[in-house]
Amino acid sequence: MSAPASSLQTGEPLLVAQGLSKRFGGLQALKDVSFEIRKGEIFGLIGPNGAGKTTLFNVMTALYIPESGSCNFQGVELTRLKPHQIADKGLARTFQNIRLFSALTALENVMIGQHLRTKAGLWGAVVRNKATRDEEARVQARALELLDYVGIGHVANEVASSLSYGDQRRLEIARALATGPALLALDEPAAGMNPSETVVLRALIEKIRADGITVLLIEHDMKLVMNMCDRVLVLEYGQVLSYGLPQEVQRDPRVIEAYLGKGAAQDLAQQADSAPNNLSNPSAAESAQP
Ligand SMILES: Nc1ncnc2c1ncn2[C@@H]1O[C@H](COP(=O)(O)OP(=O)(O)O)[C@@H](O)[C@H]1O
Ligand SMILES: [Mg+2]
Repeated sequence: MSAPASSLQTGEPLLVAQGLSKRFGGLQALKDVSFEIRKGEIFGLIGPNGAGKTTLFNVMTALYIPESGSCNFQGVELTRLKPHQIADKGLARTFQNIRLFSALTALENVMIGQHLRTKAGLWGAVVRNKATRDEEARVQARALELLDYVGIGHVANEVASSLSYGDQRRLEIARALATGPALLALDEPAAGMNPSETVVLRALIEKIRADGITVLLIEHDMKLVMNMCDRVLVLEYGQVLSYGLPQEVQRDPRVIEAYLGKGAAQDLAQQADSAPNNLSNPSAAESAQP
């Protein structure tokens, strides 16, 4: 009997989004989007460019105010918060376009992430007064730990802009982890990475989940999503196109059509009946049991 992918019990809802809609002028970027992220899962969010994936992150993290809908996270209504309150509630994210303090070192970037959660706060870190000295040492030690955790401890004292692309992405993840999140939302973390960096990233994401943090993953690489995620939400033109287990979603004719065009759906459906699916996810198959 094989062990489950995670020692965590998945199932209890962590985040419940209902009827989220967001409009930019005449463009409906999100329309009536509902889904649920369960504790302990890696939840995939996919869809063609412009489908509304980043907009959904921006609504969830209070950067955008939706016209309608709600997003409940551990009993807190996220859409009523200010952006700076989000991390404090246990939701941390990375950005599709890397946002680091490029002139600061990797270590300093992570320390800033952590100061959200310390009593002294950013000001204390800047003036370095007596009252904050002990805390400062703790924050620095923790930041070093996090850099090691994501695999870039050896570049702790290098400025962020000098790091390789893959290392900058991992630094962003370390900074997000520094806020101590229950849910980590990653916006295309593998974008621009080479295949070997992507393999390392995948292992990191799986380690994060195994350590008790639920992961929401926007990803373009269909194979990566289908192999890693427990459940998947597919957006197209701001609407939910498909939602479920990876093996359900990838067989959904609407998804195949959106990705591969008309005609491909029928061909693939016929193949699926005759051949085993090499993109199936064993852990998701287990969680499919009622
Ligand atoms: N701040 C904004 N102002 C106007 N239009 C926006 C804004 N943000 C996103 N959009 C539009 O909303 C749609 C969804 O964008 P986005 O959420 O970035 O898609 P995805 O991340 O799935 O590629 C796109 O058509 C995009 O041009
Ligand atoms: Mg995007």
